[in-house]
Amino acid sequence: MCGITGYVGQGDAVPIALANLKRLEYRGYDSSGVAYPLADRVHVHKAVGKIANLERSINGGMHNLTSNVAVAHTRWATHGRPNEANAHPHCDCTGRIAVVHNGIVENYAELRSELQEAGHIFNSETDTEVIAHLIEAALPSVSPTSEEFVQACRIALKKVSGSFAVGIVSALIPDSLFVSRKDSPLVIGLGEEENFLASDIPAVMSFTRKVIVLEDGDCALITSKSVRIFDLDGNPLNRSILDVTWDDQSAEKGGFDHFMLKEINEEPRTVRDTLRGRITEDSRVVLPDVNFTSEQWNRIRRISIVACGTAYHAGLVGKRLLEKTLKRPVDATVASEFRYSDPLVDEETLVLLISQSGETADTLAAMREARRKRAATLAIVNVVGSTLAREADAVLYTQAGPEIGVASTKAYLAQLTALSLLSIYLSQDHGLAEEERIKMISALRVLPDQVNDILSQCDQIHDLALRLRDHNCFFYLGRGYDYAASMEAALKMKEISYIHAEAYAAGEMKHGPLALVEPSVAVIGFCTQPHTNEKMISNLKEVKAREGFVVALLREDVPAPDCADAVISVPVTLEPFMPILSMVPMQLLAYYVAKEKGCSIDQPRNLAKSVTVE
Ligand code: F6R
Repeated sequence: MCGITGYVGQGDAVPIALANLKRLEYRGYDSSGVAYPLADRVHVHKAVGKIANLERSINGGMHNLTSNVAVAHTRWATHGRPNEANAHPHCDCTGRIAVVHNGIVENYAELRSELQEAGHIFNSETDTEVIAHLIEAALPSVSPTSEEFVQACRIALKKVSGSFAVGIVSALIPDSLFVSRKDSPLVIGLGEEENFLASDIPAVMSFTRKVIVLEDGDCALITSKSVRIFDLDGNPLNRSILDVTWDDQSAEKGGFDHFMLKEINEEPRTVRDTLRGRITEDSRVVLPDVNFTSEQWNRIRRISIVACGTAYHAGLVGKRLLEKTLKRPVDATVASEFRYSDPLVDEETLVLLISQSGETADTLAAMREARRKRAATLAIVNVVGSTLAREADAVLYTQAGPEIGVASTKAYLAQLTALSLLSIYLSQDHGLAEEERIKMISALRVLPDQVNDILSQCDQIHDLALRLRDHNCFFYLGRGYDYAASMEAALKMKEISYIHAEAYAAGEMKHGPLALVEPSVAVIGFCTQPHTNEKMISNLKEVKAREGFVVALLREDVPAPDCADAVISVPVTLEPFMPILSMVPMQLLAYYVAKEKGCSIDQPRNLAKSVTVE
């Protein structure tokens, strides 16, 4: 999610590392920093905002920058507000070690208190800082050698659970960079008498096209002349060299044609990261970042979900799920309606605001209205430090990372994952049976792999898009959770392909819209809820009888109905979680239809990523 670069060679390391970092800046990071070893310590510079601010602060500060080794980082906050203290790199107590990190240290709270008890002083709220102190703690007290430093890094990283891509500079290895990764990407760019480090290939492409893509559990010690790769136990490893043939534009998109497709492909990681650190070994949910007291929770009698667009559609799924688990009334309203409706909320209401950006004007106004009426406000937000995150009483962060495509994709999956966690969290001690909780947690744990399985069907979905691209109207039908999901699927299709698309509660079709069905109309029937499946199939038969093109979206354990012209099948999970899986092929379908029609996918006409005006 964050950006990492590094350099070791004959050149001036800081400007090179920063130039490479700038190639990642388009993702909208909140702060940046750089560290380099000089004499017996590491020097660190940080700034909030754009990398240009960091450059200005370095150039204005008369600092001696003649170092041949540096790591740099641009942050997209996950733990702690976006400010200078929380910007990377983070150092140990002695100022000899600096770490940049991408990922999440799940057990940071526990590690931090152990380290504090042992006398370590922390300067930030981040999870990353524990890594620098863990390395310091693992070093021998007198004159550590570079080999002992590398060993200390390995020992430290073995204590970390969660995900990491780290770049480490130290006065103890002044000619080298130590790097390692687990569940977070990291590449080494190979040059002549110089080598580069980056979280993303585009960052090194102006210097080299030869890269080594590190694998999970890999460590490397990089000098200007060599790259030594080994595992966390120190056993040597061989990794092949990749020749990058992408042009600059497709490199930014990780080799995908559009950010939207890249972001859909990031969904397994998004779901995994949103779950990370929030499920205990005994299958309970913990939400360490939601700082409501139990007294505040106990006061809540009803929940009002408020959001816009895709986030509102996530809220519609959340409404059903929270009602089912909590057995309390839950409503969902679009923010632009809520804010002017003199809403019936009070001290006993939890107003749950959902937003990717945390800056949507209507959602902010709704939150302020709810606060004015003394309701408790909880924001499910992606962007740390956004206005919604700062002003709500409590925040539950989704961990989707920066979303660049205007059409929201991975943020929706992250929002549904967060809502699933919240529903278990609120009910696990208030009526949710243990057996049910364990079933739900087991289902959540396998979702990232199931999303991956769906992504591997993208060619079939592309083929279906070719059959559908000339239809001039799409209906998306469903019941229950499927109805909520069908609303998001219709939004995806209309906003990027410009084809009229509408969602309908399947039972409502015959009360009017059926009159529109003819051969140019495509009807996507969501049939993932066993108890209403028969009804859904008979609704699809009604469509077929009027010569509409019928696509059945089915669980993979359900046979294809005769009335279907095409079938999309998705793995099986619990009913409330089916929208998480069914949305993946729907996003892909919208993407491929729009692509075949030559639409501007990442920036659809008339739309902005964040709607900060009414
Ligand atoms: C649709 C889409 C929009 C947003 C909506 C809310 O793909 O992206 O409908 O979901 O503008 O934005 P956030 O979540 O930033 O509040």
